[in-house]
Amino acid sequence: MRIIVVGRGHVGGGLAGRWRAAGHEVTAVGRDGGDATGADVVVVAVPGDAVEAGLAAVAGLDGQLTIDATNKFGARPDGYDSVAQQVKAIVGGPTAKAFNTNFASLYDAVDAERVPPGTLYAADTEARETTEQLIRDAGFDPIHLGDLTLAPLLESLIALTSALDRGDLGPFFYRFNRPGEL
Ligand SMILES: NC(=O)c1ccc[n+]([C@@H]2O[C@H](COP(=O)([O-])OP(=O)(O)OC[C@H]3O[C@@H](n4cnc5c(N)ncnc54)[C@H](OP(=O)(O)O)[C@@H]3O)[C@@H](O)[C@H]2O)c1
Repeated sequence: MRIIVVGRGHVGGGLAGRWRAAGHEVTAVGRDGGDATGADVVVVAVPGDAVEAGLAAVAGLDGQLTIDATNKFGARPDGYDSVAQQVKAIVGGPTAKAFNTNFASLYDAVDAERVPPGTLYAADTEARETTEQLIRDAGFDPIHLGDLTLAPLLESLIALTSALDRGDLGPFFYRFNRPGEL
């Protein structure tokens, strides 16, 4: 797939590297922007308060399938119940929320895990297959939460994630599995 990642920091740069290793053609851009023309997938990995500015610097956004990996601390974006809905309103394509509950500092440790760590995601139906593929290609196991109306729930998990990170556990992987599955 041709992927443009908006944000080339811990998350954007990290995912870009993992997807390149899986054979995808990935361009990662920072706040100076870039061109999304011809991209199959747009991935948003900028600070939650910088979505509008970050995407405004990218030409060629025109209804591509989009995966939003951001977290936003504090209030929801004005006029939207989630950052994912804000992203969808800007890009205009089928949208997913994914990777916001995974620590970028652990990407390099994923391949050493006995079973792939989980990635909770919520997605429009048309975005589901591609999102699952890119979660797997990053080394994680997709856990479908529901459609994009569940994005606020995923975004609210930053409170739980941060509390666990600050506590005894530190940065962590997670999995959910059915009884007897592993
Ligand atoms: N770090 C994690 O473990 C983690 C995990 C899950 C989700 N997240 C979320 O993922 C997003 C990215 O996190 P990160 O840790 O990758 O951040 P980061 O390392 O600070 O990288 C941020 C990226 O966003 C770009 N950017 C574009 N517009 C920007 C603007 N107006 N202001 C600031 N930066 C702008 C930066 O551009 P330049 O390259 O030009 O500076 C940079 O490439 C955030 O929403 C974060 O909450 C982070």
